[in-house]
Amino acid sequence: MLPPGPREPRAAQTAEFVVRPTAFLRRCAARYGEPFTLRTHWADAPMVLVSAPDDVRRVFTASPDVLRAGGSGSILEPFAGRSSILVLDGDEHLAQRRRMLPPFHGERMRAHRELVARLAREELASWPRDRPVRTHERMQALTLDVIMRIVFGSSDPALRIAIERALALTRNAPRLVAMVLGATSGFERAVSVVDEQLFALISARRRSTPVLRADAPIIDELLAASSSDAEVCDQLVTLLAAGHETTATSLAWAFERLGRHPRVVERLGEPAYREAVVKEVLRVRPVLSIAPRKLAEPFEVAGRVLPAGVHVAPCIYLAHRRADTWGDPLAFRPERFEEPPPSYAYIPFGGGTRRCLGAAFALMEMDAVLDEAAKAGAFTSAPERVRRRGVTLAPARGGRVRLSAP
Ligand code: HEM
Repeated sequence: MLPPGPREPRAAQTAEFVVRPTAFLRRCAARYGEPFTLRTHWADAPMVLVSAPDDVRRVFTASPDVLRAGGSGSILEPFAGRSSILVLDGDEHLAQRRRMLPPFHGERMRAHRELVARLAREELASWPRDRPVRTHERMQALTLDVIMRIVFGSSDPALRIAIERALALTRNAPRLVAMVLGATSGFERAVSVVDEQLFALISARRRSTPVLRADAPIIDELLAASSSDAEVCDQLVTLLAAGHETTATSLAWAFERLGRHPRVVERLGEPAYREAVVKEVLRVRPVLSIAPRKLAEPFEVAGRVLPAGVHVAPCIYLAHRRADTWGDPLAFRPERFEEPPPSYAYIPFGGGTRRCLGAAFALMEMDAVLDEAAKAGAFTSAPERVRRRGVTLAPARGGRVRLSAP
């Protein structure tokens, strides 16, 4: 028997998970304790959620042959493609991951920081002073520029327009539900336009036989390591899907929090403190709520043996607000990261063999943007509720801040 959970029909649970995701998760944890079971159209079978560090450790360190993330990521296939790292499992996944990892290493990311800082300076300089700015939109534009330059090595306006059209579809919650239920045709059309543009980019890049410098775009390394153009295309779309909205939304939350904590902004010039600020933003406002895996065999966690075929998911949102781990978990206090958190308590990038491939990229980008933001002036903001935008949890009013001149 599965752990307890809400008794509402699957459609009602899906609606709650889409419309009020964080309230739903809190309510389930309070009412049923942990682990608890959700039944939604988000996944093709019931999903059991855990958040205690020991349970999270068990899931993230289990054999990837038993706990398969690709099986839980299949909803992403229409966007990311069949050879996307997000939907592969087992040896195929590991081989793809090995091919993609080298350019995402923290050291390698340093070579791209100055470009990100320059783009951030230009973006911040364009903001009106003393009037509200919706930082989420602005960060979507910025992180798209960053991915296009650093990953694709391109700033082609036609490619950018095609990408923006496809991304707009993923941000719309009702459309996302329709997609989950199988209505993928509009989306597939938009993605095929992106694919066409990417194939043109890939063949141009192959012809140019680029020299691999430290700050070379990531596409060059993917081309050197991968066999077919179709595979590189799927990797590029995957990096866009996984890396663009997540980083933009995390930055919007950073602005929303910083606008209410001037003392934190004052210290943003200190690199170690800035690193702690980025971590604390990702803790209090994780943009992805769960890191699911599908069981290929029965699996024991939290004192239960779960049957094959169900999903088990460390719940990032609940893990980051456990009072027993964090003490005053709702307070925004970067200083708490002066000491490293207990292992498997802090999981904004998931864990194990599926841990976010772009974590160093995201941390570098957030660091560079917040460094520039602190130099641009003083921010004020009002607290915003969490609202789902596609798969991410975003500030409900767009992360509005007012910037006044320094
Ligand atoms: C703040 C920004 C980001 C957050 C919070 C985030 C979070 C995550 C999470 C939670 C996962 C799932 C991990 C798991 O299941 O254990 C993931 C996977 C992934 N992320 Fe990120 N991510 C971010 C930015 C990026 C960026 C910038 C890129 C690349 C440009 C990226 C590429 C990926 C890829 C390729 C995977 C799949 C890894 C695999 O299946 O082996 N992410 N990310």
